[in-house]
Amino acid sequence: MIIESIVTTLNEKGKANFAPMGVTIGEGEVLIRPYTDSATYRNLAATGAAVVNLTDNCRLFAESAISNPRFPTFSAELVTGIVLTDACSYYECSVMHADTAAPRATFRCKIVKKGVLREFIGFNRAKNAIIEAAILATRVRFMEVETILQEYRRLSEIVQKTGGEQEALAMQYLQDYVERQPR
Ligand SMILES: Cc1cc2nc3c(=O)[nH]c(=O)nc-3n(C[C@H](O)[C@H](O)[C@H](O)COP(=O)(O)O)c2cc1C
Repeated sequence: MIIESIVTTLNEKGKANFAPMGVTIGEGEVLIRPYTDSATYRNLAATGAAVVNLTDNCRLFAESAISNPRFPTFSAELVTGIVLTDACSYYECSVMHADTAAPRATFRCKIVKKGVLREFIGFNRAKNAIIEAAILATRVRFMEVETILQEYRRLSEIVQKTGGEQEALAMQYLQDYVERQPR
């Protein structure tokens, strides 16, 4: 099963990067599969460390999918990395093996520490819609803008019906981004 997370990494100079990534969490290990043109890939290859953050804050997904904002964090304990303050739980990860032959790399990481910060709020359709909308926003280069906006109309309805302010702001953020793209 793929779990949608926000992977935080640092580059060699210590600059933070935040990126949504679908990860596979197993017994004591995590698979992270970034495309080789991503900052997450470069940082994992350079430092061998990452933190996999699990959060129900969908604004973090929306914003980090299409930009690299600076979110509140604190230092990881056992790897050179940072933890999202608004994570429900997180895994500090150390790379054991990297398969970088394909355009989408696979980093097999050992979980060196698991932390729990707060409860997961529960399933919510609007939050799920934002995850879908964020994925579509990362595909603007490969998909017709009109096709994405059509799907956004359906997702916006779910957000309006079942979301709160956080979800409405996240949807607006993504919508504005897609509308700015050349057609
Ligand atoms: C929910 C979600 C899951 C994603 N999973 C992955 C993934 O597993 N691998 C990947 O390369 N990109 C994934 N993406 C796209 C990246 O987050 C996006 O391309 C991002 O810009 C890469 O950021 P970076 O260059 O800062 O690492 C995902 C996006 C979303 C919204």
